[in-house]
Amino acid sequence: MSDLSRRRWIQKSLLASSAMLVTVNSSALNAVIESNKNYDGPLLRLNWNENPYGPSDKAKQAIIQALTGANRYPDSLVGALKEKLATVYSLQPKNFMLTAGSTEVLSLLGQHVGLQKGEILTPWPSFPTLIMFGEQTGASIRKVKLDNGDRINLERVKEAISDKTKLIFICNPNNPTSTELDTGELRAFLKTVPSDVLVCVDEAYIEYSKYGVKSSVVDLITELSNLVVCRTFSKAYGLAGLRIGYAISNEANIDALRNRHTGWELSAGVAPVAGASATLDDPQFLDMVVERNEEGKSIVTSAFDKWGLEYSKSSTNFIYAKSAGFHADIVDKMKENNILITKWPDMTEHIRISIGKPDEMEQFVKAVEQYVA
Ligand SMILES: Cc1ncc(COP(=O)(O)O)c(C=O)c1O
Repeated sequence: MSDLSRRRWIQKSLLASSAMLVTVNSSALNAVIESNKNYDGPLLRLNWNENPYGPSDKAKQAIIQALTGANRYPDSLVGALKEKLATVYSLQPKNFMLTAGSTEVLSLLGQHVGLQKGEILTPWPSFPTLIMFGEQTGASIRKVKLDNGDRINLERVKEAISDKTKLIFICNPNNPTSTELDTGELRAFLKTVPSDVLVCVDEAYIEYSKYGVKSSVVDLITELSNLVVCRTFSKAYGLAGLRIGYAISNEANIDALRNRHTGWELSAGVAPVAGASATLDDPQFLDMVVERNEEGKSIVTSAFDKWGLEYSKSSTNFIYAKSAGFHADIVDKMKENNILITKWPDMTEHIRISIGKPDEMEQFVKAVEQYVA
């Protein structure tokens, strides 16, 4: 599909959907809110893959400074951040859309397919936002089993592509399983996907990859007109509470996404945009975060090895561990210790533990030991 016909195709579905109000499953939202409720005493939040070190000092200074200009709309700052991102990736500002967290990109893409009643193909379990918004607006979802319960099998995804498939979602590294794909394999796969099937590669955790950001597929957007990559400042950059992320794609796809975006690309305000821009100039902060994350991770994996517990090799800031090694109610038991960890409904055999600071992981190890089966 040419860029022009793609744009028409996306815009047609946008117009058809303009009167539709999308609601999010309220029980899912309630569960999320409940999971962060304050219990007695200080909470150790190892459930949302947040960065315990951020924001960086440079980001904090920039945020405070930006507040004096908060009487103005953020358009010029947005433009400047897109210029900076374009330099970082050797692309053009028109290849970027800034959003309030990459959640907005995922929800837009999900709705885009849902409103055409198309099919979304996704390895499963994976990050559910795009799937959830797709499903609620009318998409059918085709889930592709993981290898060994934790690894995306691209051959199997390729075999599952049909004439109904409108979008393929690939989260790399994958949440909740923590594993990453071989970059060469992913790049080869992307080149085989028919050009009228969109592919969203969610790189929320790419900075934690063992290959670093070099394993990103962003550079392929100049070659593949169906590729949309989403990135976030919420994880390794430590700005989750400010809500800022972005989509990277060709101009036609970015225009189509922006036309659907309820915030008209101004949902990231002056503080998040200034913080994101400053943190891009602070590679030492990113290096420190990644290094200390590995330290925190090894505290947990050393204990799990000692206790003979199974877990996946993590390329992220969280660990995906087999739940069979623990008390059957491990999530609730940890909550009684004021430590929040995660078990999504589709994680039938696993739990997920986010990596905090090393002393927090020592605290986790001490508390969890009593629940090792
Ligand atoms: C894989 C993945 N993608 C996207 C997001 C959304 O992050 P944000 O909206 O904060 O950018 C998350 C959050 O946990 C995630 O794990």
